[in-house]
Amino acid sequence: MLNSHASWDSLFVHADIATMARGRYNIIKDGAIGVAGGKIQWIGYSNQLDIDRVRSESCPVAHDIIDCSGKWILPGFVDCHTHLIWAGSRCNEFEMRLAGASYQDIAKQGGGIAATVAAVRAASEDELFSIASRRVRHILSRGTTCVEIKSGYGLNLESELKMLAVAQRLAQSFDLHVSPTFLGAHTLPLEYKGRADAYVDLVINTMLPEVKRQGIACAVDVFCESMAFSRDQTKQLFTAATDMGLPVKLHAEQLSDSGGAALAAQFNALSCDHLEYLSLDGAKAMARAGVTAVLLPGAFYMLRETRKPPVQDLIRLDVPMALATDLNPGTSPVYDMAAVMNMGCVLFGLTCEQALAGATINGAKALGLDKCKGSLETGKDADFVVWDIDGPADLSCQVGITPVNKVVIAGKIAYNA
Ligand code: NIG
Ligand code: FE
Repeated sequence: MLNSHASWDSLFVHADIATMARGRYNIIKDGAIGVAGGKIQWIGYSNQLDIDRVRSESCPVAHDIIDCSGKWILPGFVDCHTHLIWAGSRCNEFEMRLAGASYQDIAKQGGGIAATVAAVRAASEDELFSIASRRVRHILSRGTTCVEIKSGYGLNLESELKMLAVAQRLAQSFDLHVSPTFLGAHTLPLEYKGRADAYVDLVINTMLPEVKRQGIACAVDVFCESMAFSRDQTKQLFTAATDMGLPVKLHAEQLSDSGGAALAAQFNALSCDHLEYLSLDGAKAMARAGVTAVLLPGAFYMLRETRKPPVQDLIRLDVPMALATDLNPGTSPVYDMAAVMNMGCVLFGLTCEQALAGATINGAKALGLDKCKGSLETGKDADFVVWDIDGPADLSCQVGITPVNKVVIAGKIAYNA
């Protein structure tokens, strides 16, 4: 029997818990979590606690006792790759793709990322904040407690800073944790057509120093692809970012094998994302450097790709695999991490346990936040979701339902269904 007199702020009891420590379910049947100061102070079996004594006024171990009988507690989702801030709509492109156009064709005609850039440049910071807030409320109510948000639809100093300012305001206004990423090198803005090196120069010498000075991004991302930036340009951008002490990550091998993953590994990138065309050598380089593979089945699905990331190679090489929505208006208008887990299983062959690890602890790893987020362990942030499900596999198996009961972030109930 636990004989703690520590004063917890809250205690969640009688839940079945999957801790996801070290990427495994690690199930605790009839478990309990004691929370104080936003952290998990204690996690174990409910019968290790004398609940009546916990309740009694003479020994108020916890102020709030939440009975979770018949429910599951899992770590909150860590969505480690999103482009959540945008204006305008690109559903017309969905219709164009259904009629046979490719993502690349649409981009060549001035659609794609460029269309969103025009809409974002035209929107005020307040407008962007208001639209993005709706999206954040949406994902929070679906169990996401930590989200990465990229810039990359501004592509000039003013608008890139505007996007990062919106990310900062979202972080201040919502309970969920926001990890902002600078993606000034998302694609070449139209006004730099034929002058890619001049744009790379602008990103390196004007945007990056200002982003660094303002301290408004946790990492720097690049889209390395024939329709975006070359390996050589990516190398220049990564060199500048790492010289400033900013960690890097990469949109790599989405539409072709550009050798981006091996380059990212040389720079000890946090993650390489997409990876449909990842080579065995690229995967080995990622394994050696400890780079997390972020799989984005939403984009694969929406673009009706056929080439799949080499999941079995990644598993054999012990490369941690995260899953993320890639939420964006073009290639992945997908908000729901549970839907992404379903796609990870059905399209890429993950097990339900691998999918949940991808959506939690490995997502946290991709953001360099796995010391404090992604699994339920003593001392970590009390970010978790109480689910009305029969078992963790329900989340990957069921589509179109959100069985969230409560979303808890830093020990506080941030959403109650
Ligand atoms: O991750 N691949 C590049 N960037 C995004 C797409 C952005 C867009 O089309 O607006 C992605 O899929
Ligand atoms: Fe992306």
